[in-house]
Amino acid sequence: MSNTPVTVLGLGDMGRALARALLKAGHRTTVWNRTAAKAEALVAEGALRAETVAEAVAASPLVVVCLLDYDSVRQTLDPVAGALSGTAVANLTSGTPRQAREMAAWAAERGADYLDGGIMAVPPMIATPAAFVLYSGSRSVFETHRAALDALAQSHYLGEDAALAPLQDIALLSGMYGMFSGILHAFALTGSEGIKAADFAPMLQRWLNSMSGAVAGFAAQIDSGDHAQGVVSNLAMQAAAYHHLLEAAEEQGVSPELLAPLGPLMARRVADGHGHEDLSGLVHLLRTRA
Ligand SMILES: NC(=O)c1ccc[n+]([C@@H]2O[C@H](COP(=O)([O-])OP(=O)(O)OC[C@H]3O[C@@H](n4cnc5c(N)ncnc54)[C@H](OP(=O)(O)O)[C@@H]3O)[C@@H](O)[C@H]2O)c1
Repeated sequence: MSNTPVTVLGLGDMGRALARALLKAGHRTTVWNRTAAKAEALVAEGALRAETVAEAVAASPLVVVCLLDYDSVRQTLDPVAGALSGTAVANLTSGTPRQAREMAAWAAERGADYLDGGIMAVPPMIATPAAFVLYSGSRSVFETHRAALDALAQSHYLGEDAALAPLQDIALLSGMYGMFSGILHAFALTGSEGIKAADFAPMLQRWLNSMSGAVAGFAAQIDSGDHAQGVVSNLAMQAAAYHHLLEAAEEQGVSPELLAPLGPLMARRVADGHGHEDLSGLVHLLRTRA
């Protein structure tokens, strides 16, 4: 199975990295891109150029799609919808859980076997041990084409509901952007006293590495519903201390806009009588739907 022919639709930064990984792993790789010139380097490396989407889809039992968004996926696949029956489609384009479910239904109506995917990597990480891809949707596509998928990154199958991969992809990115927000604020704050970012960076990295250890403890509290278990720093204390963060930003002439939203949430939770608990209880305030 390691030599299953694969088609890649979309040769942006990510699609090119995926196609290159498949070529390196010895798959006959057919490529198509709206702007045809982007295929040239890959063709020089051994890829086969498809002149049309129809030709590309017909070339391989597995079609990997990596386009800008789901609108571009529909624009690309709609004209060849009649030719998708029996084809395994692995759509690694980023989108929302709802979009993935709708795409899976669209594919099923056309007889295609649909696997959704969320790439947890940037292009240079593809085919390195650091990269992983979340998959959900057709188990049979995942199992049949596992060798080709594993050539891209470490593969994680999450279940038959196509929404599961984009949901968890977006959850991971949400965690990342929360962290990036804090990092940017921290650099703005230290920069307000002329401290070079490079001088402060090692300490920030050390602190974030150590604080990432909180994830497992929060998870245990959230799953048990007991936010008072294993509390090291209670919420009432944290809510009071958080004021210092906002005050210091103000004093240093740094906008608090990235940090500000957490303050009122903490205060509300304390006012509701949960000051002795941990920060993890804030998830109850974030879930606006049961
Ligand atoms: N790059 C990353 O770090 C990264 C990481 C994880 C996930 N992703 C996801 O991977 C997907 C591709 O990202 P990328 O970095 O390759 O983006 P990109 O470099 O901007 O490439 C976008 C691709 O989509 C094509 N495209 C856009 N609109 C189209 C349309 N209407 N019809 C047909 N093709 C269309 C482009 O074709 P043209 O060349 O003709 O414009 C190009 O092949 C995105 O969903 C992205 O969120 C990217």
